[in-house]
Amino acid sequence: MKLERKAKRIIAIGGGKGGVGKSIVSTALACHWARQQRRVVLIDLDLGAANLHSYLGIRRQTPTLADFLRRKTDSLEPLLIPTGLPHLRLCSGAESFPGMANPPHWLKQKLLRHIRALDADVVMLDLGAGVAFNTLDFFDAADDGVIVTEPEPAAVMNAYGFIKSALLRTLQSVFRHHETLGEALEADLALPEDRRAFSLDWLRQQARAQAPDAVALIDEVQQAFRPALLVNRHSAQASPVLIDNLRMLCRQKLGVELDWLGHLPDMPDLRRSLLNVPGFLDSPSGSPLRKAVAAAAQPLETHFPPEAPPRDYSDDDVQALLNMVDWLDDHALGGRPRDAWKLRVYFRPEEVDAHLRRHGSGLAA
Ligand SMILES: Nc1ncnc2c1ncn2[C@@H]1O[C@H](COP(=O)(O)OP(=O)(O)O)[C@@H](O)[C@H]1O
Ligand SMILES: [Mg+2]
Repeated sequence: MKLERKAKRIIAIGGGKGGVGKSIVSTALACHWARQQRRVVLIDLDLGAANLHSYLGIRRQTPTLADFLRRKTDSLEPLLIPTGLPHLRLCSGAESFPGMANPPHWLKQKLLRHIRALDADVVMLDLGAGVAFNTLDFFDAADDGVIVTEPEPAAVMNAYGFIKSALLRTLQSVFRHHETLGEALEADLALPEDRRAFSLDWLRQQARAQAPDAVALIDEVQQAFRPALLVNRHSAQASPVLIDNLRMLCRQKLGVELDWLGHLPDMPDLRRSLLNVPGFLDSPSGSPLRKAVAAAAQPLETHFPPEAPPRDYSDDDVQALLNMVDWLDDHALGGRPRDAWKLRVYFRPEEVDAHLRRHGSGLAA
């Protein structure tokens, strides 16, 4: 089946270590963009230990990715469940059953094709812990990869390991059929971790010596592989040294520059709201986290495809819209009479048009 790509931006949230806040970050970013009226789909890809549904307060039985993986449905659309937050839908994670945490390659590729075909402005992939191939493949397939870590040694080490593995995995798939470089990568990967020579510079040297044509492609991968770094549970006591070292290590050892998204504060109150994270973010005690998430989201938003340019509304267009507003009853204008009143009083053609479109009418494009 041929599927057309409709997802405008796919963002993966990974980071190696469990418990560092990947799912909280995925949820908070998804809520942030949904509040900006972007159509967001959040996909729980922590196939072994899915928990996004509980962070979103969903307790009822719902369809899950397992239905897709077991081929009960041939599309992701029927699995998308509303979340109580307008514009945000969830594809809940698979309940665990043997083999599901590690779907075969063809099934993973099929899932990726269906993810790309989702009609959404932002699709977020919440990944599981570890550096299993399926986790790395989802990370590498996204348009943007975000690494979440805490400012403590084990998490930072895991973040580095994750970045290195994701880069290696990308290069492995790029050069899979390349005789010399494919073999060189395989051979290096077969060595024990501490004896591996791998870095982008090392690979470039191999290419210069044995396959000069490939140098340009390595440069291209280096340009494109730019994970973003987000430090969660930051506190005033946390030393910046570990994070500085991580960025330096990536630059010097791997040749990878990390985009900086900033810090999210440690929020002791969050623990009491884990069954309603959106509610927490909206509450006064959640406001520092909400603001930090908005700031962290900004660099990612610069990569979003531009909105359609604003259209010009002729006098006739404006008159047609006014007629529509008068003609439609309050119900069609959003269900609340107040909305219709607002639309008439603060009439701005582009807002009214967008509103009517969302309710199935509006001017012809
Ligand atoms: N910014 C934060 N402040 C306080 N606690 C947090 C924060 N982020 C995450 N946590 C806690 O850490 C736990 C694990 O977070 P989660 O996002 O599920 O981790 P991961 O998805 O990386 O395994 C959460 O249930 C929450 O209790
Ligand atoms: Mg998680």
